Amino acid sequence: MQHYDALIIGGGAAGLMCALTAGRRGMRVLVVEHANRVGKKILMSGGGRCNFTNTGATPANYLSANPHYCKSALARYTPWHFIEMVERHGIAYHEKELGQLFCDESSKLIVKMLLDECAAVGVRVETSCSIERVQHADTDATANDRFRLHTTHGVFAAPSLVVACGGLSIPSMGASGYGFELARQFGHDVLPTRAGLVPLTLSGKHLERLSELSGVALPVTARCNGREFSNFLLITHRGVSGPSILQISSYWQPGDDLRLDLLPGRDALETLQALQRERPAAELRTLLGDVLSKRFAQRLCEVWLANLQPSRPIRQFNLPQLRDVAAILQDWPLVASGTEGYRTAEVTLGGVDTDGLSSSTMMSRHVPGLYFIGEVVDVTGWLGGYNFQWAWASGHAAGNAL
Ligand code: FDA
Repeated sequence: MQHYDALIIGGGAAGLMCALTAGRRGMRVLVVEHANRVGKKILMSGGGRCNFTNTGATPANYLSANPHYCKSALARYTPWHFIEMVERHGIAYHEKELGQLFCDESSKLIVKMLLDECAAVGVRVETSCSIERVQHADTDATANDRFRLHTTHGVFAAPSLVVACGGLSIPSMGASGYGFELARQFGHDVLPTRAGLVPLTLSGKHLERLSELSGVALPVTARCNGREFSNFLLITHRGVSGPSILQISSYWQPGDDLRLDLLPGRDALETLQALQRERPAAELRTLLGDVLSKRFAQRLCEVWLANLQPSRPIRQFNLPQLRDVAAILQDWPLVASGTEGYRTAEVTLGGVDTDGLSSSTMMSRHVPGLYFIGEVVDVTGWLGGYNFQWAWASGHAAGNAL
């Protein structure tokens, strides 16, 4: 049996950050990763450029049954801490939009940086290492081998065990429900999980009406359950995607009312009245083709505005009719049937209930020495670098507490 100060299950964003933080404190750390390489999600993130943080990250950008839980860790490890490490490693980056920082070159540089930092402080990383069982000796063992990890590479023991296995999204990248299984094994509640930051699917007539427009993108404000996100919508052959839809998907559940404002930031009635003054002889459908995507406007006229005869010149529309058109443009109902699920979801909502964890150390309240960090915990960020920021911050908090 080999002894360590801390065993970390999962060599993803949170696990590696925890490892290098504990290693810097002189701890002997082992990271056990079942995939053939660490950081696979980092590699595929941000289209291969890793949106590694968001300079505007605040607790308001996270979903959790306890919205206060993430506050302490996020306050103690800010985006600027991570940026400092990125700059120290000479990794060039840029802001794409809305505080989202991406590597100029490749996500590989972020994984390399984390591995270099781990190597510099003697962290051992075991890849292609499967866990057969986790043994917890709370009575007859000394604190030093409180946790025993039986793996395909041998038995490892330590006083601390960190669960950093991530969530269920993208199973082909190594995602497993193992973290939730372990949480239950140790008496923790796991809140219901579902796919987040995920494309929505349409079915029946709702799909038929839009699927021909696959590939069309347009700016919208998506609204659901008191939340709204303004960004692009992309029509796919199965439904809808794009940043505005991915963001709102985390707040949507089947049956919930989802509305789109097709003229984000503009008053639809004022826009129509201005068009009526400026181009009275133009047909409504032509004018809508100019302010929206042409193909989308055409379908809107054929299906949702057909009863208002949109091939008429706009001067023929009276105020109540313009109001009806404006209502459709500003509050267009999108009837989604479901989501594409974990196969394409960026994150898993729900997870290990934060009620059983300390928000300052991430340690279990029931089992001393047991920690949960990253996506396995019921803290989920918005799209835009917030999820990595949570992985870094929670990994850092545990790494300093071990
Ligand atoms: P993560 O999933 O990174 O790591 C968990 C690790 O545990 C994996 O290496 C896994 O193989 C390992 N593991 C699982 N089960 C195990 C077991 N039984 N034994 C041993 N090891 C096990 N976020 C963001 O902020 N910016 C972005 O640009 C993106 N982009 C993005 C794109 C795509 C396609 C996806 C799917 C996700 C994103 N995300 C993102 C989300 C981000 O990737 C995610 O929130 C973090 O990777 C979570 O970090 P964790 O370390 O918690 O889990």
